[in-house]
Amino acid sequence: MGLLKLLSYASLALFATGTAATSWTANPVNPPSVPLAVRTPYLSAWLPQGAGTSLAGAWPQFWTGSTLGWAGYVRVDGKTYTWLGDPVVPNLAPALATQKSMTYTSTQSTFVLSAGAVDLTVNFLSPVEASDLVKQSTPFSYMAITAKSNDGGSHSVQIYSDISGEWASGDTSQAIKWSTDTSSNVWTHQAQLQSPQVYTEYQDHTQYGAAYYSTQNSQSATWQTGQDTVVRAQFLNNGKLSNVGDTNYRAVSNNWPVFAFAHDLGSVGTSASSNTLYTVGHVRDPAIQYITAGNNLQDRSAYFWTKYNTVQSLISDFIGSYSTALSAANTFDNKVKNDASAISNNYYAVVALSIRQAIGATEITVSKNSDGTWNTNDVLMFMKEISSDGNVNTVDVIMPAWPVLLYLNPTWGKYLLLAVHDLGASYPKAIGHNAGNDEKMPLEECGNMLIMALSYTQKSNDLSLVKTYTKLLEQWTGYLVQEALIPASQISTDDFAGSLANQTNLAIKGVVGIKAMSMIEGLLGNTAAQQNYSSIASGYAPQILNFATANNHLELNYGAANTWGLSYNLYADKLLGTDVFPQSTFQMQTAWYNTVRNQYGVPLDTRHTYTKSDWQIWTAALVTDTTVRNNLIDSVYAYIADGKNNMPFSDWYDTESGASSGFRARPVVGGHLAILAL
Ligand SMILES: *[C@@H]1O[C@H](CO)[C@@H](O)[C@H](O)[C@H]1NC(C)=O
Ligand SMILES: *[C@@H]1O[C@H](CO)[C@@H](O)[C@H](O)[C@H]1NC(C)=O
Repeated sequence: MGLLKLLSYASLALFATGTAATSWTANPVNPPSVPLAVRTPYLSAWLPQGAGTSLAGAWPQFWTGSTLGWAGYVRVDGKTYTWLGDPVVPNLAPALATQKSMTYTSTQSTFVLSAGAVDLTVNFLSPVEASDLVKQSTPFSYMAITAKSNDGGSHSVQIYSDISGEWASGDTSQAIKWSTDTSSNVWTHQAQLQSPQVYTEYQDHTQYGAAYYSTQNSQSATWQTGQDTVVRAQFLNNGKLSNVGDTNYRAVSNNWPVFAFAHDLGSVGTSASSNTLYTVGHVRDPAIQYITAGNNLQDRSAYFWTKYNTVQSLISDFIGSYSTALSAANTFDNKVKNDASAISNNYYAVVALSIRQAIGATEITVSKNSDGTWNTNDVLMFMKEISSDGNVNTVDVIMPAWPVLLYLNPTWGKYLLLAVHDLGASYPKAIGHNAGNDEKMPLEECGNMLIMALSYTQKSNDLSLVKTYTKLLEQWTGYLVQEALIPASQISTDDFAGSLANQTNLAIKGVVGIKAMSMIEGLLGNTAAQQNYSSIASGYAPQILNFATANNHLELNYGAANTWGLSYNLYADKLLGTDVFPQSTFQMQTAWYNTVRNQYGVPLDTRHTYTKSDWQIWTAALVTDTTVRNNLIDSVYAYIADGKNNMPFSDWYDTESGASSGFRARPVVGGHLAILAL
């Protein structure tokens, strides 16, 4: 009781600190970085927040922190204000619009800014389309703007926005070319490298394909391409653009070419103007190079190509279906809000910030038949590890992210599992580790594969995965039977913490994996194997507890009395209903965590003060006491609210200082849905 009360005061105080630095209201909270356009590993634009950064006056950033030129002006009765980005034009200094509020949901980030007597509402929508492969694989996001008078009068309003060549290449010294298509009702600027390199990255940006910026030919639209200061000055001076393209193709940073549209909303009163709509995206084809049997390399494409022949037709449909996309997004966002708020409002704040980031690390792809038609029976999903490295479909990164896949659509999990294991060192090349230099964590990964295979099968009632791969799953189980009870010195997914023998948490994963295989054999009707694995698991569990229990908690490694750690792998025992460990183990760990909690949470283990947000929420999902659960959730909330970080959700941070320890924008934040996936 006392603790609960103390904690709610602490959260209030933190919330107050978080908002005190900003002059706007934030709902649910000012996060370290606000997702703006986040849909793929290469369409990932964020507004770094820190202690409080307005949409007006700071450049959006790629997830790595490099600048993405994305500017916006609004002219109100002849006076211009900046509402997006930090554009500087010599001798012309528009005022900054004043941010009044920032709201984020699972798919949207919405800013209200006042520009003199007019308020702008700027909505960034990055859809998550869990039941539609075409829509989910569409690498585009929306930005919709409405204006209305805030003083009762009517005002003349013009809106401007541009993107820079930074959306087309991570290397700003490289030459790009661009073009503008105004032949239909949807106008599109396209920018791409003059010398693209397929399947290649530069500092995590893709080095091939093209960036697209589009708008509708309505509201007296005008366009222009050219040097940033020239194009922006044209709008600042005239409130419209020249409809002229610059054809002096050059490097991204050589007199910074920008690609702009402007609209004249005419007279705007106290009811909101109709949407001024922009879409931004990046398309590359093929998307993924994939190794198949016999070491053949296959080119795979984003799934949307099964429906569209051209990017322009894709964009036309995408922009034309904005109201459908928005209402689908609102329905989805409300569902997440209802589900997560039923746990707590702080939990909702964490979950809503995590969904775009987790799914934005993935792409859904398809291959071609030999006759050139699409093979829609061959759908695979790919996930980039992001920031810790660029690996493709890292099993021990898919595992922490798994809950978001269960929550959204378990079939996406199957599309990922069909493409594993750990398919390559550098996205988008899923070409294997034929040199044998993959990172070895065999207990971790055998356990992960068995746990995810059963989890998918339980949620989908589809036996195809476990039927097709029974032999492989049995092989992995055989390894666990030999190695899980007394784990050799090896790393877990938390590789940064180092190698250690007899890690209790790895033994837990291993034995849950063995029991998972028992249940798989049961589903397949293999009663003898089911009973064999079940009796092995129930024989191991008490031995593990005996090796690992001291002073009312599980040790980090057997016999090390003063050590402990987050034994988050118990979550799998609960998720799957494997029931390998007795309720008393869960109760013991629950009581223990409450005694070792720092301001920003429970450390990962006794070797360091840092923790992982994903494992804290997994732990919150397995504890047996609601207060302890909420304490863990509130610790992660306090960390995103503390104003000390300005990067896309970093899952690795210090429990004493609340500062990030590295890692950013990783899909593992999908693990924050662990409670919802139960
Ligand atoms: C049980 O499984 C283990 C590990 O795969 C195997 O070595 C053993 O032969 C099996 N026992 C029976 C009775 O099937
Ligand atoms: C691991 O634990 C077992 C059981 O307590 C013990 O026999 C063994 O010596 C330990 N191994 C290491 C490397 O500490």
